[in-house]
Amino acid sequence: MRALHLIVLLAACGDDAAPLFPESYASTYTEVRNCRSSSDHELNRVRVLADPAALAPYMARTQPFPVGSIVLKAEYDFGDTSCAGAPVAWTVMKKLATPEDLGWVWQKVDAKRGVESENDPQCIQCHSDCGVAPLGYDGTCTVP
Ligand code: HEC
Repeated sequence: MRALHLIVLLAACGDDAAPLFPESYASTYTEVRNCRSSSDHELNRVRVLADPAALAPYMARTQPFPVGSIVLKAEYDFGDTSCAGAPVAWTVMKKLATPEDLGWVWQKVDAKRGVESENDPQCIQCHSDCGVAPLGYDGTCTVP
């Protein structure tokens, strides 16, 4: 388990860590939580998208997330009440094969797709509180 985790970290720490989600995510990811005020980052509006593998588990909250599946939170300016403009930042989770770090890789990505942090303990700390039933599911926190 340790070795696998190290490989994930090493891969991510190479030259420039790449975002876990493709630039063209909008064409394949599905909105799973609509535009709303964030309770995490107070000033931002957010919406949540899932890749095809995460879609059914995120919505149903009964089956496990497949390894490698991705959940993405797009953040918008606080004045962008319909999330119509360009995102100002993203946070993203990618499902691991192991339970370490709540079972996910965690990234914060800026508007230019630069990776600002990976596996920040603050992400894991907060999501271990809000990511459990009845409000959360398997580390995810956005209430339906
Ligand atoms: C202070 C608590 C807190 C911290 C710290 C935090 N989050 Fe969250 N996160 C939330 C809450 C609450 C939501 C629900 C949506 C909202 O209100 O923004 C959420 C939603 C998300 C989502 C959408 C999927 C879902 O339903 O959970 C992702 C992805 C995410 N956070 C990733 C991260 C990453 C990566 C970090 C660290 C860089 C992070 N979060 C730090 C509380 C937190």
